[in-house]
Amino acid sequence: MIKKILSTLAVACCLSNAVSAQESIKKLPAPQTEGGIPLMEAIQKRKTFREFSSEQIDDQTLSNILYAAWGISHDGKRTIPTSQNKQNLSVYAVLPDGVWLYDAANNQLTLASKDDLSPFLNTQDFMQDAVLTLIYTGSDPKNSPMHAGSAYQNVGLYATSRGLNNVVRGWINREGIAKALNLGSEEIIISQTIGWPYK
Ligand SMILES: Cc1cc2nc3c(=O)[nH]c(=O)nc-3n(C[C@H](O)[C@H](O)[C@H](O)COP(=O)(O)O)c2cc1C
Repeated sequence: MIKKILSTLAVACCLSNAVSAQESIKKLPAPQTEGGIPLMEAIQKRKTFREFSSEQIDDQTLSNILYAAWGISHDGKRTIPTSQNKQNLSVYAVLPDGVWLYDAANNQLTLASKDDLSPFLNTQDFMQDAVLTLIYTGSDPKNSPMHAGSAYQNVGLYATSRGLNNVVRGWINREGIAKALNLGSEEIIISQTIGWPYK
């Protein structure tokens, strides 16, 4: 009898681990690497729009955004240049169901935290309904901020092409976010909020 109870418990434990492992990974569709408006038009139209509706961002668009920011496009290298190809940058996606670290090599997101970051991000009124904020972090004080700048510019251009609004934001509570994400040696560089305008 005891043996049976123990083996049932072992199965239940394995199952619950399997479920939690599954829940901590979000597979993304392959990014769409063609199309969009002409580059010069996107450069001309890129602009900060501080207006975000609560409309969800579909997984395809999310995958495209993350690829623009920090995807792997050639020889294991990124959609942006990085100093000595050291690729010192991390990109987190703050979504309604948690904070996820972008894993470009596997085209997936890994759950980093279930904490609600809105108290640390909603420092401006227009953030009220926003459903996607990227947080750029890195451990190289000289180069990581430059990498973040390249990434947010790529995202800004993609957003322009896709009809999404976006704003780069330094006015965030870095300490609170770093604590929630258990960042260790990485520093928070900047954030970027992306979303659909109100209809
Ligand atoms: C590094 C950086 C930090 C910024 N921080 C904020 C911010 O905290 N809040 C905000 O509303 N806009 C912020 N912005 C957006 C700028 O205010 C905006 O880019 C600037 O006014 C120029 O407007 P444009 O992007 O439409 O050309 C930031 C932009 C950059 C590049």
